[in-house]
Amino acid sequence: MEKLIFAEANGRELNFTDKIFGISSKAQEMAKREGADKVINATIGALLDDRGNLIVFDAVDKALRALKAEDFAAYAPLSGIPEYLEVIKKYAFGSHMPNMYIAASATPGGAGTIRNAIVNYSKRDETVITSDWYWAAYKTLVTENYRKLDTYKLLDESGKYNIEAFAECVDKYMKLQDSLLIIINTPAHNPTGFSLTGEDWKKVIDICEKYAALGKKVTIFVDAAYIDFTEDPDEARAFFDLFENISDNLLVLVGYSASKSFTLYGMRCGALICMTNNEEICEEFKNVTAFSGRGTWSNGTRSAQQVLVNMYNDRTMKEAVDKERDASRKMLLARGKAFEEAARECGLEMLPYDSGFFVSVPCSAPDAVGELLQKEGIFVVPLAMGLRVALSAVSEEKCRIVAPAIKKAMDEYFAK
Ligand SMILES: Cc1ncc(COP(=O)(O)O)c(C=O)c1O
Repeated sequence: MEKLIFAEANGRELNFTDKIFGISSKAQEMAKREGADKVINATIGALLDDRGNLIVFDAVDKALRALKAEDFAAYAPLSGIPEYLEVIKKYAFGSHMPNMYIAASATPGGAGTIRNAIVNYSKRDETVITSDWYWAAYKTLVTENYRKLDTYKLLDESGKYNIEAFAECVDKYMKLQDSLLIIINTPAHNPTGFSLTGEDWKKVIDICEKYAALGKKVTIFVDAAYIDFTEDPDEARAFFDLFENISDNLLVLVGYSASKSFTLYGMRCGALICMTNNEEICEEFKNVTAFSGRGTWSNGTRSAQQVLVNMYNDRTMKEAVDKERDASRKMLLARGKAFEEAARECGLEMLPYDSGFFVSVPCSAPDAVGELLQKEGIFVVPLAMGLRVALSAVSEEKCRIVAPAIKKAMDEYFAK
């Protein structure tokens, strides 16, 4: 956006262009013009089958259709249906729900969890931190709420979590601020597919506790939007146990979303969950998030909340959805493996992929290389530091085509 005409920027940088949507539209236009078989659209962050159709879990579809009229017509309570607030914790933690004060608050999707974390656990005009590879919406959510976003390097030279960069960044802001909100998207990070290990988590907690002991308020927001698409979704939750003995000055928030886990993207359903050893902080969480919800979206989507409750309580339904999710999870992992193999074979460097919807390739000219790829009918998303390929949207076979095509486009561009 060049210049505002009538709207007020209020200090926000309102340069909103939906890059992903724009590129995806180009892919669709090319498919219409030249035939679908000439196009690989690896931009979409939703699960598509190998033919490019949106996957909707049948069990979820059935559960939605079985709802009573009042289940979707009535308002939900401000913080969510009480049974929903209980089952969402079980979905989020699985067998790794530590013994501490844990409360959930309903939000419209994962984005809503991030919004409520920002407004309640960071100060206006101060800085929120995350890693340098991050989901672009973080910047929008942070700046829309009058905060700043700063980053530390996600990876060190050997491709491991860069705990030193993390420590430095936390130290920098703990010298400037009394509180700090840290966003960590793991496991199956968007856009790289990277996951922190248990050892990484122990170090992260130790660093945060160091400042908590000095009287600083530290909040870790775990964006767990992709946790159900990991190699072993139960094992991937083991790090939650590490929070069991955190001090009162360290608060952990978890953002859990039904968008990917239940193929309910458009139903806008998620929950912000707090983990603390202080009962009053937990009560306060319930109050401030209810207030925030009221002040933005009022209440969440009752039908989606009710569907999650009904599926949890009906063993057959739960098993059915778990089975379908499992098939999608395996499909994604196989696509990831195919891309990794193809990248290795052609010598394409990529970021370490553990699991999830995306892989990323580092590139210093992402827009230009992205455009070269488009000429070949391959559509990926250029990010600040590279190219993102949505495994969620393309078959294994296409993953094997995309990796060498990126390598070729990069070689061509950088040889100039
Ligand atoms: C990293 C990350 N967090 C959270 C979300 C939440 O999405 P939603 O608001 O659709 O639940 C997404 C969706 O793309 C994401 O990529």
